[in-house]
Amino acid sequence: MPKSNYSKIIAGVMKWGIWGAQLNTSEMAKLIESCLDLGVTTFDHADIYGGHTTEAEWGNAFQQSGLSRENVQIITKCGIMMSSAQRPKIKTHHYDTSKGHIINSVDTSLKNLKTEYIDMLLIHRPSPIMNPNEIMKAIDILKTNGKIRQFGVSNFTTDQVKLINSSVDVECNQIEVSPFELSSFLNGTLDHCMLEGIIPMAWSPMGGGKLFAPTSNPTLLNQRERLSNVAQKYGWELDEMVYLFLLHHPADIKPIVGSSKIERVKTAVDSAHTIISDAQWFEIWTAATGENVP
Ligand SMILES: NC(=O)c1ccc[n+]([C@@H]2O[C@H](COP(=O)([O-])OP(=O)(O)OC[C@H]3O[C@@H](n4cnc5c(N)ncnc54)[C@H](OP(=O)(O)O)[C@@H]3O)[C@@H](O)[C@H]2O)c1
Repeated sequence: MPKSNYSKIIAGVMKWGIWGAQLNTSEMAKLIESCLDLGVTTFDHADIYGGHTTEAEWGNAFQQSGLSRENVQIITKCGIMMSSAQRPKIKTHHYDTSKGHIINSVDTSLKNLKTEYIDMLLIHRPSPIMNPNEIMKAIDILKTNGKIRQFGVSNFTTDQVKLINSSVDVECNQIEVSPFELSSFLNGTLDHCMLEGIIPMAWSPMGGGKLFAPTSNPTLLNQRERLSNVAQKYGWELDEMVYLFLLHHPADIKPIVGSSKIERVKTAVDSAHTIISDAQWFEIWTAATGENVP
């Protein structure tokens, strides 16, 4: 398994700013400190979060906290060209994985985050026209300049990871994993991570809130009832059960918590102390899919 200083549970900041909780600088600084107190030292960003505003808000909050940069790990992403009030010149939503864009995006992220380096830079989404050599040249320059320490991808298939890996070391694949999105368990993505020592990080572990949000969708209601029944049987909270499910996998999946409520981050951290049996894992799987394994 890969060695890294990323915390077992990662704090996702996508909804800390205007895309969610709208925390002010002091609240954000307090949340960063509280995460560190729980041992959650890794923070997951993207240039686009909050319509290109959350990195800078977090950077201000981190500065206000007075915490030492060496005590946290910062992940950020680039490559999605999304129009926002901060980027009005982008007219067409598209991807850009050119050398120039990757380098410029990192420079902007460094400025926003008020840091000298990014621990892990990810290409946010695979582009059908990405050129591995172009990406390699950008990553080479950024590593040589000390602006990034590691490089990875997000939402890439195994073949896409192999393509990029042929030119530059891919050290992480950040993918969607939850009871609603199980494909990485069966399509080779997690197997490939294990084979190559690539860190799998799981985004939207609660399905982006789908596990809890009010719904009248009968399929979703049935699925949630089945999952709740398993949780009740073992005295687990529903979110706790999902973290247990992810953490049980031998690929050493790192769940990215989407909540900005510290008690929910704590639930994720505490889950790491509970070991479930393989049979219990399959009970959760079966509840998620609604079908027994063959
Ligand atoms: N690489 C990518 O393409 C990609 C895509 C999406 C996200 N991400 C990363 O993954 C992180 C997590 O994604 P996510 O926000 O979709 O994660 P998530 O954890 O699946 O969903 C978070 C949502 O679930 C709600 N929630 C969590 N626990 C709850 C509970 N016990 N009861 C009720 N509601 C609960 C939260 O509400 P509260 O805030 O009220 O707790 C929040 O609205 C993001 O912050 C981002 O860093 C990456």
